[in-house]
Amino acid sequence: MAERIEVLLTEEEVDKRIQEIGDQISRDYAGKSVHLVCVLKGGSFFMCELAKRITVPVSIDFMSVSSYGGDTKSSGVVRIVKDLDESLKDKHVIVIEDIVDSGRTLSYLLDMLRSRGPVDVRLCTLLDKPDRRVVDVKVDYTGFEIPDEFVVGYGLDYDQKYRNLPYIGMVKFD
Ligand code: IMP
Ligand code: MG
Repeated sequence: MAERIEVLLTEEEVDKRIQEIGDQISRDYAGKSVHLVCVLKGGSFFMCELAKRITVPVSIDFMSVSSYGGDTKSSGVVRIVKDLDESLKDKHVIVIEDIVDSGRTLSYLLDMLRSRGPVDVRLCTLLDKPDRRVVDVKVDYTGFEIPDEFVVGYGLDYDQKYRNLPYIGMVKFD
């Protein structure tokens, strides 16, 4: 079935909000440095744009977990596909996600990262779908709260497509 993409958040809106989050993080971590942990692949576009707007020293690392296949529903299965390269010991960690949906992936991931000796671990997500939450997770920085729609762009995919859209779009099947 062919799908259609409807704009939810324009490139300008997303850019403006990322700048605001970058400013906020720079203020909150003044005098410290932050270690950004990107959850691949979806979080990568957001992390790069955000990192450029943070004015305190930044280091980055990547990890990959699987929770979705070529489907729009969470499988509930969380598996580490690629682990971090560096230790989190004594670091101020900020996990960068594309979207928090059911919260299953994040709740597992945050517990695991907190057990590795960081000073603290915060969560920053570009998008949040609060209506879909199954597992409670505390989000420290949110770009946008969005309705229960399947969205793509800015790193988010539908069946590995549309990650490169510079805006956030809703997938419509009609
Ligand atoms: P959760 O464990 O249900 O919170 O799933 C989070 C992950 O599912 C996100 O990091 C995305 O990779 C994926 N996901 C959830 N909702 C969407 C969506 O609307 N579009 C694309 N991917 C999504
Ligand atoms: Mg993700």
